[in-house]
Amino acid sequence: MYRISELASKVGLSRTAILYYEKQQLIKGKRLDNGYRVYSDKDLQRIRLIQQLQAGGLSLKECKACVEEKIDRVTLNKRLRILDDEIKHKQEARKLLNALLGDGDLKVWHETVDKIAPDAHLHWLFKQGFDEKEALRLKWLTKDMNKHDEYMADFMKVFSTLERWGPGSQSETKKALSSLPQLPKNILEIGCGKGIATNVLAQNTTANITTVDNEESAIAYINDKIASGDLSSRVTPVCASMTELPFADKSFDLIWSEASAYIMGVSKALTQWKALLSDDGILMISDLVWLTPNPSDAAVEFWNKNYPDIVHVNTRIKQMQDAGYEIVESFTLSEQAWENYCLPLKNRVEELQHEMQGSQALQDIHHELDIYNQFLGEFGYQMFILKK
Ligand SMILES: C[S@@+](CC[C@H](N)C(=O)[O-])C[C@H]1O[C@@H](n2cnc3c(N)ncnc32)[C@H](O)[C@@H]1O
Repeated sequence: MYRISELASKVGLSRTAILYYEKQQLIKGKRLDNGYRVYSDKDLQRIRLIQQLQAGGLSLKECKACVEEKIDRVTLNKRLRILDDEIKHKQEARKLLNALLGDGDLKVWHETVDKIAPDAHLHWLFKQGFDEKEALRLKWLTKDMNKHDEYMADFMKVFSTLERWGPGSQSETKKALSSLPQLPKNILEIGCGKGIATNVLAQNTTANITTVDNEESAIAYINDKIASGDLSSRVTPVCASMTELPFADKSFDLIWSEASAYIMGVSKALTQWKALLSDDGILMISDLVWLTPNPSDAAVEFWNKNYPDIVHVNTRIKQMQDAGYEIVESFTLSEQAWENYCLPLKNRVEELQHEMQGSQALQDIHHELDIYNQFLGEFGYQMFILKK
C-alpha cells in the first residue's frame, strides 16, 4: 500500500493530480481508520500504463477509454491526424526560423507579407539593412533576402547590354507627346533607365529635361551619351528615388514615366508626383493593365505574384480621375512595343543560357517571356496622358 505522497513521488505527479486521477475513477484509493488515503500496487501500475498512453498525445479521458476497453481506432486516428498537422506546422516554423537566420527559401514568405502588409514589409526590410533601392528591388524582383545579391547580380548582367528596360517604342512615345495640349518647357522623366524615351522627348521638344533613375549605371550611361553628343545637353540626369524626388513643388509642366510608376505603386505616384506639376501640368504614365475582364488563370497567377498592383484598364482610369486628373488620352501599346523589349531580352537570355545555368533570375525572365508569348492581349501596357 502507498500513501498518496508516496504514490505521487513514484509516478512523478503532484498530490492534486493523484486526487484528480481518482476523481476520474482511473484509480481507487482506500481511506484508513486513521484518515490516511492509501493506494494499491494496481493503482500504481494503472497510472504507469496511462502515462505510457499519454506519451501518444492522448487526453486522460482517451487514456481511460483505452485502458478500460479495446483500443478505439477512430479516436487514435483522429489524434494521429492532429499530431501530423502539428508536426507539419512545427516543421514549417523550423524552416521559417532557419530561413530568417539566412538558410533557406523566403520567397513565398516575402510575397505573402508584401501582399498583406506592404508598408510594414518595406520598413522591416530597411531594419534588416536594405536601403530603399534594394528593398524595392527585393519587393519587385528578387523576393528573397537570402538570395537577393546573387539574383540582382544576374538580373543586371542580363539587362546591362539592353537599351530598353520596359515595353515601348519611339513612335508611341511620340504619339503620347503629340496628344499634349501644348509643348512642355520643363520635363521630369522618372525611371528613365538608359534614356530610350529621354532621347525622343529631347528630339521632339525644346524643353529642359530632368531625367531621374536610382540605378547609378543607367545615370552614368546617360551622362556618357550627353558627353559624346548622342543626347541633348538639355538633359540633366539625376540619380534619385522616385519616392523622394528632390524638386520644388510645381517645377515641371510635364512628368513622364514609362514602365516605372508601379515600383512605388501607381496610386502613390499619382498623388505624390502631382505636387511637382505646375497648374494644368501633364502626367504621362504607362502601366501594365488587364485588357479583358476574364484573363486566363495562368496569366492571373503570374501577374498577381509579379505585379500585384495590376487592375483592369477601366479601374485604373477611374483611380486616375478619383486622384483629380483629367484623362487627355489613353492608348494601349502595340505588339511592336512589346517586341522591342522582349526580342532583345529573349536573345540575351539565350546568349547567357549556358553561362548562367541554374540562375533563378534567368528562369524568372524566361517565365515572363512565356507569359508574354501566350497571353499578350489579355494584358498590355497602357499609356495614360493625364491633366492635373
Ligand atoms: C522597367 S524599367 C523602365 C526603364 C525605362 N523607362 C525604359 O522603358 O527603358 C524601370 C526603371 O525604374 C528604375 N527604378 C527602380 N526603382 C526606382 C526608384 N525607386 N526611383 C527611381 N527609379 C527607379 C529602374 O532602375 C529602371 O530603370
